[in-house]
Amino acid sequence: MYRTHTCGELRKENIGQNVVLSGWVQKTRDLGSMSFIDLRDRYGITQIVVDDTSSQNIKDTAKTLSREYVIQAKGVVRERSSKNAKIPTGDIEIEVKEIEILNPSKTPPFTIEDNTDGGDELRMKYRYLDLRRNCVKQNLELRHRLAMMVRNYLSKESFLEIETPFLIRSTPEGARDFVVPSRMNPNQFYALPQSPQTFKQLLMVSGFDRYFQIVKCFRDEDLRADRQPEFTQIDCEMSFVEQEDVLQLFEGLIKYLFKEEKNIALPTFQRMTWQDAMKYYGSDKPDLRFGMQFVELNDVAKGKDFKVFDDAELVVGIKAEGCAEYTRKQLDGLTDFVKRPQVGANGLVYIKYNNDGTFKSSIDKFFTQEDLQAIADKFNAKQGDLMLIMAGEKMKTRVQLCSLRLEMGQRLGLRDPFNYAVLWITDFPLLEWSEEDQRFYAMHHPFTAPNPEDYPEKLKTSPGEVRASAYDLVINGTEVGGGSIRIHDRKMQLDMFEALGFTEESAKQQFGFLMQAFEYGAPPHGGIAFGFDRLCSIFAGADSIRDFIAFPKNNSGRDLMSDSPNVISQQQLDELYISLNKVEK
Ligand code: AMO
Repeated sequence: MYRTHTCGELRKENIGQNVVLSGWVQKTRDLGSMSFIDLRDRYGITQIVVDDTSSQNIKDTAKTLSREYVIQAKGVVRERSSKNAKIPTGDIEIEVKEIEILNPSKTPPFTIEDNTDGGDELRMKYRYLDLRRNCVKQNLELRHRLAMMVRNYLSKESFLEIETPFLIRSTPEGARDFVVPSRMNPNQFYALPQSPQTFKQLLMVSGFDRYFQIVKCFRDEDLRADRQPEFTQIDCEMSFVEQEDVLQLFEGLIKYLFKEEKNIALPTFQRMTWQDAMKYYGSDKPDLRFGMQFVELNDVAKGKDFKVFDDAELVVGIKAEGCAEYTRKQLDGLTDFVKRPQVGANGLVYIKYNNDGTFKSSIDKFFTQEDLQAIADKFNAKQGDLMLIMAGEKMKTRVQLCSLRLEMGQRLGLRDPFNYAVLWITDFPLLEWSEEDQRFYAMHHPFTAPNPEDYPEKLKTSPGEVRASAYDLVINGTEVGGGSIRIHDRKMQLDMFEALGFTEESAKQQFGFLMQAFEYGAPPHGGIAFGFDRLCSIFAGADSIRDFIAFPKNNSGRDLMSDSPNVISQQQLDELYISLNKVEK
């Protein structure tokens, strides 16, 4: 038997017991007459003691141990003379009677500690060692618990978990597909699913009125901290529901997870239309942990001969309370921030509402104290506040100001990762105009139903203004989930395809099987999918989803550990009828 207990299990109650432990050597301390071994496994760390009473054999073996050796120790549990209150096993230690090296280890390339000396690349290259670190391990434990809770909750609500295929047909809408060549069907390709969207809708046609799946999805898109090429969704679909039914049920799920995992009772989720989110926060995923709502200033800012404002479609700003004391250097820093290519603004205007009631601004040349007072009134500003203003094309300026708002929130410490601001965004536009392609694209996907109030009239007269029955769940400025009510009516689907510039023929070619299925009695249905990796990272208060995925890819989509993607043999290529092109570097 390799072990009677784990390394996290033994307590005072076990004193006197003979035990066997197995694990990895976290560290050894040789004090001459005595030596200590910290033995680690998934469950914790237990101190093993070798002292004068130990046999020479044990003493010799102990001397050869080093970090990450796998050993087995047999001995008796005894009370520690100097206790360690920091670990649950800190009251006891093992007086060792036998020790065996099960497997030696090379010296790891970085320390297996929460505060490791290993950089990102090294940790990814040796991910299996990185996963031994407590903080990373805990993330995967959290992930497991959340997955279990999701399954429990949805199962109790009569949802069935049903698997859908990974080798599917490529569809041109949405992000870029990863494709897989088919050996048996020369020159033909499967795609890996970006989501099980069409399959879950087909399951509704089949009568599985409540479906879910914790499922891998694949998207060949640019990567960021919260985006991986393969990621996991909690994918859900329901029949005979309206938008409100979906929002209620999944608000219940999210509240359940917060209560069970964190003992946080979330209040009823706030709801905000997409239009308001853009107007007041410049983002469809506003971070509502803090205020700093946008204030639009066209009526008080224009007509003072300041060209930047006069020529702008929108003049809009935020108020940073109590920041009038910002120094020149701090203000220059903010201007540099908005001028970075990632934000792309031309500049930033500031107005300080000084504590003596006067104003000092970067536009003093054009604005009198009264003019500045009028702007301050719009902001409801008090003495001591700082107003930061940007101007330009409406949507672009809003998005730029959103970056500044988030930066200010960060600088002022208003974005506590453990303070949760949860909301639904509703009323997304149904269609999005592409200047480049001179056509509309579905903002969500082509099966999303229009808001009943905007159909059929508006879809014909002003398609760009039609709202969708689509919704997103946003937590702390991150889009955690999104879904919609689907079109089940054939006429509506054809109208939608028409708005997207498909002929009936081209729509049939791409979505024929779904359209055909819908002719056999498709129930009204709708659903949602949550980004499971993102949800886990938010529960742990982390920015990046990488550490919640056992084996993630880096920002170039590479797995540094196995060095993939990689070339394949000529024989494999031949079997797949693939010839390679020279790549210009
Ligand atoms: P959507 O495309 O909004 O909807 O995706 C749902 C959620 O998945 C997460 N997500 C990602 N997480 C990590 N890395 C990525 N590359 C990534 N892309 C998306 C986000 C997002 O909110 N089929 C629809 C859902 C539906 O309509 O039911 C869909 O996939 O958290």
